[in-house]
Amino acid sequence: MEHALDIALTVNGTQVRRRVAARQHLVDFLREELGLTGSHLGCEHGVCGACTVRVNGEIVRGCLMLAVQANGGRVETVEGLSESGELAALQKSFHEKNALQCGFCTPGMLMAAQDLVRQKVRLSREQIRTHLSGNYCRCTGYQAIVDAIEEVLNGQG
Ligand code: FES
Ligand code: FES
Repeated sequence: MEHALDIALTVNGTQVRRRVAARQHLVDFLREELGLTGSHLGCEHGVCGACTVRVNGEIVRGCLMLAVQANGGRVETVEGLSESGELAALQKSFHEKNALQCGFCTPGMLMAAQDLVRQKVRLSREQIRTHLSGNYCRCTGYQAIVDAIEEVLNGQG
């Protein structure tokens, strides 16, 4: 493999070692090398948010980060957060509020929304919309998505 580098990182709590092309993006690495296809690829240039994952506790665009940049780090995807139950309240709320149609944007929306939920702050709908402004939905529209997130934020006591 041309310009390949060895990387070691933790993905959803599991230690992973791979030899990767230096220019492979993190989201491609997750999808193609590890089979974690929950993170989607939409625009591939940092606009739509479909590829949102968490790296060392911060949400990032998986299409704007190289896999080699995550070397030594801790990556969490929608699969990992689903499995740990961290997304359970949001997933339930999205379901109840019909906050998805095709579901393409949903993993990124959930990752971005959970970033708010874990800050345990009360936010207005406008503030929720601002936080989600980097996540595009082409079918449901944002009303139900904001409803779902607002319900979880307001239910946090
Ligand atoms: S695919 Fe990464 S932001 Fe659109
Ligand atoms: S539910 Fe289809 S893009 Fe958002």
